[in-house]
Amino acid sequence: MSTFQTLTWLREKRSLRLLDQRRLPTEEFFLECRDLQQVAEAIKTLTVRGAPAIGVAAAYGVVIGIQEAVAAGNSINAQTLADIIEKLAATRPTAINLFWALERMKKAGEKSLKNDFDKDDLRDLLLAEADRIYAEDDQAHHQLGEFGIQLIPAGARILTHCNAGALACAEYGTALGVMRAAQAAGKNIKVYADETRPLLQGSRLTTWELLKEKIPVTLICDNMAAHCMAKGMIDLVIVGADRIAANGDTANKIGTYSVALAAKAHNLPFYVAAPTSTIDFSLADGAAIPIEERDPDEVRFFGEKRTAPAEVAVYNPAFDITPATLINAIITEKGIFTPNQLSGVR
Ligand code: MRU
Repeated sequence: MSTFQTLTWLREKRSLRLLDQRRLPTEEFFLECRDLQQVAEAIKTLTVRGAPAIGVAAAYGVVIGIQEAVAAGNSINAQTLADIIEKLAATRPTAINLFWALERMKKAGEKSLKNDFDKDDLRDLLLAEADRIYAEDDQAHHQLGEFGIQLIPAGARILTHCNAGALACAEYGTALGVMRAAQAAGKNIKVYADETRPLLQGSRLTTWELLKEKIPVTLICDNMAAHCMAKGMIDLVIVGADRIAANGDTANKIGTYSVALAAKAHNLPFYVAAPTSTIDFSLADGAAIPIEERDPDEVRFFGEKRTAPAEVAVYNPAFDITPATLINAIITEKGIFTPNQLSGVR
């Protein structure tokens, strides 16, 4: 368990409490979501972010949506559930975990709707499924962390991009889960965290999280990664993933692809750590992974300060695709696989 709580279901209040990641690292503020709109907004605005955490938040969002419909006296049927799920699915397109979790909630809900159902039973059933998604997420990340240890030499200097930690998951983290496990195993690792423009998940979140965990971390700007590799300061790279295609092509935070290219050029291993729920076997390769484009002002501004002319054209993709050929291994809760072994995981 980490020293902070990214998402918490408040049982008495029947609401979802989120550590507001927009305000980190300067403020530890918790946002309580009581209605569906708040949960959808929280996912869209990156109050809660990171592929697994988005899935878990959406699962509780379905529970909240049903509670809201019941409280409003609306009729509860398959269409009510479908409308709630549609609203949550429309928040962010890239992370498959969102759709994976919503599919599970849909199946759980429909099963109970088929029978002669009681509204409270439906709500309890959905809550039980959301709790299971949370618990399985946490368990999978602990397991992948344990598998990942074998890839980490003692004293390893590890570069990571964006935040794939407990802030991005239920509790433990994927890329940072491997680092947590390696540290607990006495490997004395040192982490280099890319800043991760434009929204600075690396500098705002990864450094905050690693400092809390007492794992040594050094912050670098994104454009320093290749330089650090050339200087012999990095031994390996580990990143998370938002969606992995059947051939191993991986969507992750924009800039991951350049890190992978630089790692290849310097003959450094490049690992992706992700639960198997992140693998989208319906897509043969990364070309079909939808890439979210976000508000141009995220690039025109650096935090609160505008750093570009207000009228300048901007291209702001939130993710890129790292081809499987640049990935040495994918660390999952079921073991470590090369991209071309992934079909066996299915
Ligand atoms: O836009 P974000 O902050 O949600 O992007 C997050 C990432 O790209 C993470 O690396 C990815 O979701 C893996 S999280 C375990």
